[in-house]
Formats: sequence, C-alpha cells, structure tokens
Amino acid sequence: MTTTVNTNTLGDAETTPKDDPLEIAGGATAKYVDQRLGSNRFLGRNLGKVFPDHWSFMLGEIALYSFIVVLLTGTFLTLFYKPSMVEVMYDGAYVPLKGVMMSEAYASTLDISFEVRGGLLIRQMHHWAALIFVAAIAVHMFRVFFTGAFRKPREFNWIVGVTLTALALGAGFTGYSLPDDLLSGTGLQIIRGILQSIPLVGTWAAFLVFGGEFPGTDIISRLYAAHILLIPGIILALITVHLMMVWTQKHTQFPGPGRTNDNVVGYPLLPVYMAKAGGFFFVVFGIIALIGGLVTVNPIWIFGPYTPDQVSAGTQPDWYIGWLDGALRLMPNIETVLFGFTISWNVLVPSVIIPGILFTGLALYPFLEAWATGDKREHNLLDRPRNAPVRTGIGVMAIVFYGILWIGGGNDIVATTFNMSINSISWALRVLLIVGPPIAFIITKRICLGLQRKDRDKLLHGYESGRVLRLPHGEFIEVHQPLNYKELAVIQGKEDIAVLPAPEKADADGVKNKLYPIHNLQHKLSSFFLRDNVDKPSKAEIEAGQAHAAHTAELEAPLHDYEDLDQDPVGHGGVLHHPGMAMTNQEQIDQRH
Ligand code: HEM
Repeated sequence: MTTTVNTNTLGDAETTPKDDPLEIAGGATAKYVDQRLGSNRFLGRNLGKVFPDHWSFMLGEIALYSFIVVLLTGTFLTLFYKPSMVEVMYDGAYVPLKGVMMSEAYASTLDISFEVRGGLLIRQMHHWAALIFVAAIAVHMFRVFFTGAFRKPREFNWIVGVTLTALALGAGFTGYSLPDDLLSGTGLQIIRGILQSIPLVGTWAAFLVFGGEFPGTDIISRLYAAHILLIPGIILALITVHLMMVWTQKHTQFPGPGRTNDNVVGYPLLPVYMAKAGGFFFVVFGIIALIGGLVTVNPIWIFGPYTPDQVSAGTQPDWYIGWLDGALRLMPNIETVLFGFTISWNVLVPSVIIPGILFTGLALYPFLEAWATGDKREHNLLDRPRNAPVRTGIGVMAIVFYGILWIGGGNDIVATTFNMSINSISWALRVLLIVGPPIAFIITKRICLGLQRKDRDKLLHGYESGRVLRLPHGEFIEVHQPLNYKELAVIQGKEDIAVLPAPEKADADGVKNKLYPIHNLQHKLSSFFLRDNVDKPSKAEIEAGQAHAAHTAELEAPLHDYEDLDQDPVGHGGVLHHPGMAMTNQEQIDQRH
C-alpha cells in the first residue's frame, strides 16, 4: 500500500486512501471539499479540541438543543397558522366554539390543534420546548454566575448571554400572544398599559406598537414578524457568536488534579463530545416530544377568543413572565400628576424600572465585581460557590426576590387554593420582598463561610473518620483520614484575594488625593466582598496536616489487620500498641518532654 503525499493548491497534504471502500469514499469527499474550501486544515486543527467535563456544562447544551426543537416545530406551525385579525365565524371541529366570531389567527390555532394531523403534538412540543429553552437559559446563567465563569476574559460573552435572555423572553411573549385567545389578549392589554405608563411618550408608544387604538387590527401580524423572523434571527446570530467565543476563549474548568489556569483537561471533540452531544440532542428532543405528547399546555380552546371587554380568571402567564405580573400585582397604587401629566408609578416601577435595573445590573455585574474586588486577572479555573460567599449571597438574594414576585403573580391562585384573603397575601409578599432577600443573603453567606471553614479543617486535619481510638497509654484520639488527591486538588484550588488597601487622603508631600472618595468606596466594597473569607492554609501547613492525619490513620491499621483476620483485637479494654509508642503514663510523659 502506498501513501502519496502531494501538495494541493491550498498547500495541504493530500493522502491517497487505503483499500476500504468507505475510507476511499470518505477520503475522496474530504479531498473534493478541501480542494474548494480548504477545510481539512481547519477541521484537523479543531476536531481534536479538548473540552473539560462536568455535568453543569450540559445546561448550555440543553438551551441550544431546545432552541433547535423550537425552530423545527415552529417552522411546521408557520405552514398552518394565519397571522390575521380578520373576523371569521368558526366552523371547525371543536363543537363548543362553533358559530363564535373570532380572529383568523385564533381559528387557525384551533385548526392546528384539532384538524391538522400531528398539529396539537407539534404545538405543544413548540410550547414546551420554549419553556424548557428559557428554563435552561436561566439555570445555565446561574451556573455561569455562581462559578464566576463570567470573569475576565468572558465578560462580553456574559453580555451576549444577558441579551439572549432578554430576547428569549421577547420570543416567548410574542409567541404566546399569537393565538389571539382571551389569555394572551389580556397579556397584550397589560403590555399596552406598560407602554402607556412611560412618561411623555407612553401614549404615542402604545399607538405606534398597536397601529392605533387597542387592540386594532395590526398587532398580530406585527408580533408574527417579530416572533418568526426578527427575534429568532438575532437569537441565532447571537448563539453563533456565543459559541464562537466559548470556542476561542476555551471553556473554563473546575479545580482538580492537574488543572491549572493555563491548561484544559478533558476529552477531545472528536469522537467523545461529538458522540455525547449528538446523543444528548436526541435525549432532549425525545423528552420534549414525550412531554408535548403527554402534558397539555396552553389549551386555548378553553379560554375562547379575545374580546377586550373580558378578562380570563385564574389564568397565569408562562413561568418566566410571572415575576413581572407579580411585580405589577404587588406594587401599591401610587400616581402623581405633574404639569397635567399622570405618572403611573404603580405600573412604571414594577414593569419598566425594576426590570430595567435588574437587567442592567445583570449585564454589568462582571465589571462591577471586578472593580469592587480589584481582581483584574484572567480566570479559567472556576470558583466553587462557597469560595465567593458575597457573590453566591447576591445570586441567592436575586433568586429569592424573583421567587417572591413570582408567587405574587399567582396571588389569586394562592388565595383561592388556601382560602386566604388576597389583600393579606399581597401585604405579606410586599414585606417579604423587602426583608426576604437580605435574610437570604446573610444565611447564604454564613453557609458558604461555614463550608470554607470545613474545607480548611479538612486541609489541616484530614477527614474526621468518626472513629475514636484508645492508645496503649490510655490516650483517646479521633482517627483522621488524609484526603484523596482529587479532593485535595479541588479544595486547594481556592484562590485567596487580598482586600484592597485603604487609600490615603493625601500623599507624603501633602498633595490631596482627588480620587480618595472613589478609592475609598472601592476599598470598602472589596472589604465587603473579601474580608470574611477563610484563608487557605499554607502549603507546609497542609502537608503537615495531611501527614498527621495519615499518621493517626496508621495507628488504626493493626485494628484493620485484626478485622481482616476476623479476630477480636484485644480481649479487654481495646488498647492497641505500636512499636515505639509509650506503654505507661511515665513513658508518655517522658516522650512529651
Ligand atoms: C440562547 C441561550 C444560550 C445558549 C444556547 C447557550 C449555550 C452555551 C453553551 C453550549 C456553552 C458551553 C457549555 C456550557 O458552559 O454550558 C455556553 C457557555 C457560556 N455561556 Fe451560554 N448559552 C446561552 C445563554 C447564556 C446566558 C443567558 C449567559 C449569561 C448571562 C451565558 C453565558 C455563558 C458564558 C459566560 C459561557 C462560558 C462558560 C465557561 O467557559 O465556563 N449563556 N453557553
């Protein structure tokens, strides 16, 4: 068998394949493509790329795969859905609505549900995939946040992620509105209220979006364009940018044996990740198909068509919009009339100002944290959440804040389910919204610090085995076990960052430090972030601690020998003796001196 090496026009090596027909065909195809695209060099360079392995890195993949399912199922729906608000009389298969006047959009959604073959399955898969998409994004974002994966050099990718979150909410909301049923129409009515609450331009903005008075006849076709073209197009482009950045910046990894800030320990893309990712796509697809086939979602035929003078009772928006609804429900009714203009704080604050602050804070967080801690280094090793207690506390605080608003969005359901007054629930939630997050912050921070202390203890003394051993001279010791190399590497991966020094008001020559207030703020913030952290012991201390743990474990070894022999080690008193160990109290005292 000969191997001929030529150089093609792109300068790459050409190899004549062997005798296997598959290899010959594959090789010929690769050559054909390579001669036109120069792809061999690119693939050769990239297919062996190493990715670190951790279950939490799968969360981004779930977001990606559910988005693909959204695209596929959504394309199917566009074949039958009519984005039109023209009034028609329903004459389809769903008998309870026969003869009812409704928009073509609503009628076509009923047709997809009852008459198009597989239509309901695909509709439900689309809806479930969208719900899972947003959930996966949220959990993926938590993973990135709590492990500090957003730190230098990944801050831009974090911003791309925050934009993707906002777009996913937009995609969800615009899609939710398309069936033009009573539930989604009520949601649009709320959007109109929100737009109108914007000072000065509110009324104009609402007219612009709805093409005149609410609900008008344009909004569904406008939402359709945004839902199937604009938003998915931008999401697709941004996902591409997002993944390209993950590719070029390389993936972060958790601390572990052999892992440093400058290397990546894991498996190559081909064949390991190709197989894993391909298989995982079908798992996600299969689960969404299963849920779509078994669990009803958004049964629009129950709600009926939208009419502006009706509101559906006891209905809820999709989970990711629930917090905004809750914010609206919890806000007290405050309005101000200024120069003849009404400012509706009751709508503006919960639906524009709070989400605006949250999303801006989220986008800027990497920069704020880097500034506050003074940590400008590159981080390719992830933090364990316990090692960044303030960050973890802030994250949990945000989740609690969100959770309380979310419960607020279902205050009517809570009231009817538990037979409670809706006003009492709203008041309790208002109070909780203010006191709950700080309490969550304090508890989380304390738990993190407790875990840090436990880690320090493990480094200094090894594991507490829980076994007490009596030595020949009468002393009782608790046997400690040294850590295994993996845990040792994980715990030692903690990075200690010093609090920024307090600035001087003036230098030695008495020249005033003009930036004193800013530097002082930075010093205080860095102290807030870092001062309570439990320092990692020095290398020598760790080695001594582990050696001591190994020594106590060794003292116990003969006991295990006896156990192995299935013999009672000592008939009376459980005393073990090792060579060189004190036998009497006097010997023990002598040894101590
Ligand atoms: C359409 C939504 C999204 C998709 C499809 C997506 C997909 C992915 C994938 C597949 C990865 C690599 C695996 C992993 O670390 O999980 C990744 C990494 C990353 N994502 Fe996302 N993501 C999305 C949204 C977000 C959001 C909302 C954020 C944050 C606000 C974010 C921030 C990041 C960062 C910083 C990385 C790099 C992490 C590292 O190297 O450890 N992503 N994303």
